[in-house]
Amino acid sequence: MKILMVCLGNICRSPMADGLLRAKVQKEGLNVIVDSAGTGGWHAGEAPDPRMQETGAKNGVPIDFLRARKFSVTDFDEFDQIYVMDSSNYNDVIAIARSEKDKEKVEKILNLIYPSENRNVPDPYYGGAKGFQDVFDMLDKATDEIIRQLKIDE
Ligand code: 4NP
Repeated sequence: MKILMVCLGNICRSPMADGLLRAKVQKEGLNVIVDSAGTGGWHAGEAPDPRMQETGAKNGVPIDFLRARKFSVTDFDEFDQIYVMDSSNYNDVIAIARSEKDKEKVEKILNLIYPSENRNVPDPYYGGAKGFQDVFDMLDKATDEIIRQLKIDE
């Protein structure tokens, strides 16, 4: 099982989702590979935003080792499930899908905990520190649900 987290810059939301899920997968001893990518490539090669790193570290989930990369069409072949953070990410990823099979892999991550509501994980990049903690809390709940489902499927 391979799971990809996707946002716009791959320096705030998706690396936090990636780090949270990696930590939980490791804790549970599950055979799951986790990665993240951005629909935009401006920050490729960079570590996560220092504010997201700080929030992760403060909550016991360090993400300093992650590096940003741009989402690629080959990610549809590589990954079984692609979780996007907001509607804009969803549209960008769906736009380069080659088939229904590709499209079926894509889901907005908050639909895991608020089914069919199509909620967005807000982009914290231009906001204050509280935005980063809010993002952490949402992604913590959503990744708990991924783990719950993975354990059922095991
Ligand atoms: P992210 O946040 O998509 O959660 O990583 C952003 C980071 C950078 C930019 C936009 C969003 N940017 O425009 O550089």
